[in-house]
Amino acid sequence: MPTPTAVLCGLGTSLPDRSVTNDQLIHDNNLDSDPRWILERTGIQARRMADTHTSTGDLASAAGTAALHSAAEQAGPTITPDIVLLATTTPDHRCPATAPAVAHRIGLGGVPALDLSAACAGFVYALTCAKALITAGIYTHPLIIGAETYTTTLIDPHDRDTAILFGDGAAAALLRPGTDDEPGALLTSTLGSDGARAEFAHVPAGGSRLPFPAPTAAPRDHYLRMNGSAVFTQAVRRMTASALHTLAQTGWTTNDVEAYISHQANQRIINAVADRLQIPQPRRHGNLRQLGNTAAASIPLAIADAADTRSVKPGARTLLTGFGAGLAWGAHTMLFPDARPHSQPPRTHHEDTP
Ligand code: COA
Repeated sequence: MPTPTAVLCGLGTSLPDRSVTNDQLIHDNNLDSDPRWILERTGIQARRMADTHTSTGDLASAAGTAALHSAAEQAGPTITPDIVLLATTTPDHRCPATAPAVAHRIGLGGVPALDLSAACAGFVYALTCAKALITAGIYTHPLIIGAETYTTTLIDPHDRDTAILFGDGAAAALLRPGTDDEPGALLTSTLGSDGARAEFAHVPAGGSRLPFPAPTAAPRDHYLRMNGSAVFTQAVRRMTASALHTLAQTGWTTNDVEAYISHQANQRIINAVADRLQIPQPRRHGNLRQLGNTAAASIPLAIADAADTRSVKPGARTLLTGFGAGLAWGAHTMLFPDARPHSQPPRTHHEDTP
């Protein structure tokens, strides 16, 4: 019997209600910026922002539940996840991981559940790990979730270098065993990291290197600090190289790519990678303009958006690329899923507690 591959069979999303335009963001935080500059230099017009009562786990639980409803619509309610991988850089607590609470809140009993931290590359990393679990026969139905609340945790609202870029949200994908010729099939991936350039995007304090608060930590050291142009250059270089490597391993040329979905960080980064790969404009899909950079949630949110609007047809040859702090990056080829995404508003912890 051939080794099964992983097939994406359910998609769920959860977004905070509040949409904040560039105008509002600048006004609310007294930023030295300009709405047109933000739109032209990043492609972002608005972003969803969580309130301080909404956690990453709240968004993740809702997106995970929505993904199960999406899968049930197609395959019947028989699919129960047997492991949960939560890609996030903004967990609910430093300890414990957020995934066990999310699994509990979704009603998954005692399944194994873990957080995976690879910043904006988190979802591509999680896809690769989840697929490996299926092909190795260890688990059959991983639920993978990308969920973030950067705006309430890691972003200094008064730092124009980062405050203009990030938004909050979550999206989830349920996987099952299947064959590599069906819609949703995960094909080949390449992952990479470069810790020598960790300081290009990092949070100086709050970990064991520099606990926060501490006498040696500066007041804003618990916020993300980023060298935008250095990150930009690395993002283009690394995503292009990993895409070419993954395409070669899949046996595709760039001409074969019918849909390109990148991590949504900056439209100029996405275009630079797609131009180098010679993927034409109509094949580039994303939702950066309305959602900004939602880190580990951005790729599954963009997949869900393309599935919802039917702008990519099921079975289309799809290339995903991710890049983020670490540095960490990856690319993945897949056949676009045939799943109708479901969406749920974030659920507060109290709503889930009897
Ligand atoms: N509003 C208005 N002007 C700004 C600005 C802002 N938010 N940020 C920078 N500028 C100004 C600079 O002062 C500079 O002015 P000058 O030419 O008079 O000196 C000019 O715009 C260009 O600055 P630069 O830093 O070169 O801008 P950029 O084109 O590189 O855009 C980013 C900045 C952050 C949008 C861009 O570098 C980026 O998106 N990087 C990748 C970030 C990323 O992907 N992060 C996620 C992974 S951690």
